[in-house]
Amino acid sequence: MAHYPVMLPEVLDTLSPRAGEIYVDGTFGNGGYTQAFLEATECSVVALDRDPTVRTQAAVLSEKYGERFRLIQTSFSKMDELGIGQVDAVALDIGVSSTQIDQGERGFSFQKSGPLDMRMSQSGATAAEAVAELPQAELEHVFRVYGEEKHARRAARLVVRAREENAIATTDGLADLLERGLGRKGRIHPATRVFQALRIFINDELGELYEGLCAAERILKPGGRLIAVTFHSLEDRIVKTFMRQRCGGGQSGSRYTPVAKKPPVQPSFEVTRRSVLKPSEKEVTKNARSRSARLRWALRTNAEPIADEYSPLRKFPRLQNYGWAA
Ligand SMILES: C[S@@+](CC[C@H](N)C(=O)[O-])C[C@H]1O[C@@H](n2cnc3c(N)ncnc32)[C@H](O)[C@@H]1O
Repeated sequence: MAHYPVMLPEVLDTLSPRAGEIYVDGTFGNGGYTQAFLEATECSVVALDRDPTVRTQAAVLSEKYGERFRLIQTSFSKMDELGIGQVDAVALDIGVSSTQIDQGERGFSFQKSGPLDMRMSQSGATAAEAVAELPQAELEHVFRVYGEEKHARRAARLVVRAREENAIATTDGLADLLERGLGRKGRIHPATRVFQALRIFINDELGELYEGLCAAERILKPGGRLIAVTFHSLEDRIVKTFMRQRCGGGQSGSRYTPVAKKPPVQPSFEVTRRSVLKPSEKEVTKNARSRSARLRWALRTNAEPIADEYSPLRKFPRLQNYGWAA
């Protein structure tokens, strides 16, 4: 299935492209957003993607738009380390692309047989390695936190028992194991949440998201637009909390940040109109995958970036906690 750029009209409306401006498309994918920005006006786009296979599509855009476009293969959490200077907008369209999901050999989907891989960057630890090596308690934690899986303990136990017999190396191997062990009730495949959890873990998706938002805060000019499209509640919560906090919310104090002891912080972002948008009914009818999308956006002020003392990621299982590089 071709990749369909999710919420593109809303992304364009909030980005409001202007000639001469520089944008970062942090999740190039099939280039749907980038191409729309370049078509809209005489702007420049620095596109980032950690998946090396997007180069083919990037070559097509380079041919067409010349120096107005370039692709850097990297994680968007590093966007402030690339020497691209200050920019006018950053757009993030979080998650995997339909192209990645649809390629069985990438191992993202339990509906396609393939190796249990799931790495967007095609480097680092694979999902098969996580399933083979993580202790049972850690597997359970990953399934519970990133999959919000009610049966996390049972799923982890099933994996550990099965791997004592044979390695779990394929998507269908893991999906069948979970289906047999957890049973199937209703429409949703019992492997859905475990697959989501492993994908988020292997790609450190929530760590990337939070660090990407912080990096965007550092490179956006005053008046610059930060736009993030997310697909599930775990991601949306990170963006919502980040934007609220940066817009001056969350300063009423908590048990960790007693307000009386803190000097007031100038908001580094502001919201001038509706800051959360959903896809139109028309879009959801055309592309069912867009139904859970949420777009949040805010405008950079001229205040200093806000230092975060309490990252929301501190309780999440992350690759580096296990000595694995993301
Ligand atoms: C949903 S797709 C983006 C689709 C794109 N907006 C379009 O219109 O074609 C997400 C893309 O972001 C990439 N990606 C996800 N997380 C990333 C990260 N932390 N750093 C860089 N690229 C990332 C994925 O490899 C994938 O190609």
